[in-house]
Amino acid sequence: MNNSPKDWPEPIVRVQSLSESGLPVIPDRYIKPPDQRPSFSPATQASHVNIPLIDLGDLNGDHEKRTAITEQIFQASTEWGFFQVVNHGVCPQLMDRARQAWYGFFHQPMEVKQAYANSPKTYEGYGSRLGLEKGAILDWGDYYYLHYLPSSLKDQNKWPALPSDLRAVIDEYSAQVVKFCGALMKILSQNLGLGDEALQDAFGGENIGACLRVNFYPKCPQPELTLGLSSHSDPGGLTVLLADENVAGLQVRKNDMWTTVKPAPHAFIVNIGDQIQVLSNAKYKSVEHRVIVNSDRERISLAFFYNPKSDLLIEPAKELVTPETPALYPAMTFDQYRLYIRTRGPRGKSQLGESQSSPR
Ligand code: OGA
Ligand code: NI
Repeated sequence: MNNSPKDWPEPIVRVQSLSESGLPVIPDRYIKPPDQRPSFSPATQASHVNIPLIDLGDLNGDHEKRTAITEQIFQASTEWGFFQVVNHGVCPQLMDRARQAWYGFFHQPMEVKQAYANSPKTYEGYGSRLGLEKGAILDWGDYYYLHYLPSSLKDQNKWPALPSDLRAVIDEYSAQVVKFCGALMKILSQNLGLGDEALQDAFGGENIGACLRVNFYPKCPQPELTLGLSSHSDPGGLTVLLADENVAGLQVRKNDMWTTVKPAPHAFIVNIGDQIQVLSNAKYKSVEHRVIVNSDRERISLAFFYNPKSDLLIEPAKELVTPETPALYPAMTFDQYRLYIRTRGPRGKSQLGESQSSPR
């Protein structure tokens, strides 16, 4: 991207440093307007409501079992845009090691982490903000962002060298998650009445993009005033999130309420991104979500993004465009699309032309 900005509009402050300094109050920069605070409406859903949990163990079983599972995926993708999966094929021990490796990175001394400080040009590396608006209200979280695919963008020298097993673990983890996403793409494609490979082909076949954003949400002395990550929908194709099993934080919007996700052991939280909403002509929903923080536990999450090849035009699949269901979105490349969110920061779903149902 040639027109990307080169640097941040103001000095970067690490949220982890703020948290560790033991301040009893958060700086004004992190205080959200009242209508965006966790306690404001839309209210938080009763705690027994959760996103669907789908066991993929029998996906290769007989026809009937497979159909039951693919139907659950269809329901979840059209109604929630979010679901959890277990028995997804990614090795549970590898999931633990991946989370552990990143925990180890974020607990390295600050100067070790600063060596990877990112810039808005590519966002790769250690970061503490999204968006370039000077004076913007910031989120209570730091992150690390890296490319896995295409291989031309994968540069392990830009991945943390410490802990010493991180690069190998993340390489293997990413390979397994990509494989899982490929299987899911087939199901999502079939469920739209398209051929098995239609969605994957629209993404560029083997030339897809894949990147990892590891979120680190430090303890916050005033969690009721801020968010770890502001409400947004994911701009890419699919997101596979490995959340902290012990600390909840992710909230998903549904029927104008926020549902707090309770992660199941060794589950992935999967969500539909904007590009699949576009390709499906809004049959599948890319749903707004956000992260709340708390005062006694830090939280870590690994968000793996499976994206279309960045210079392909993405538009509603031809088979899904009829006189009754006209195309809802113009064709756009993912490069064009992503620039919007990278410049303006997370802002609900405004980039898909959907108005906000709560003011922000
Ligand atoms: C993201 C995201 C959720 C979380 O990184 O896009 O929504 O729980 N993360 O950290
Ligand atoms: Ni997200």
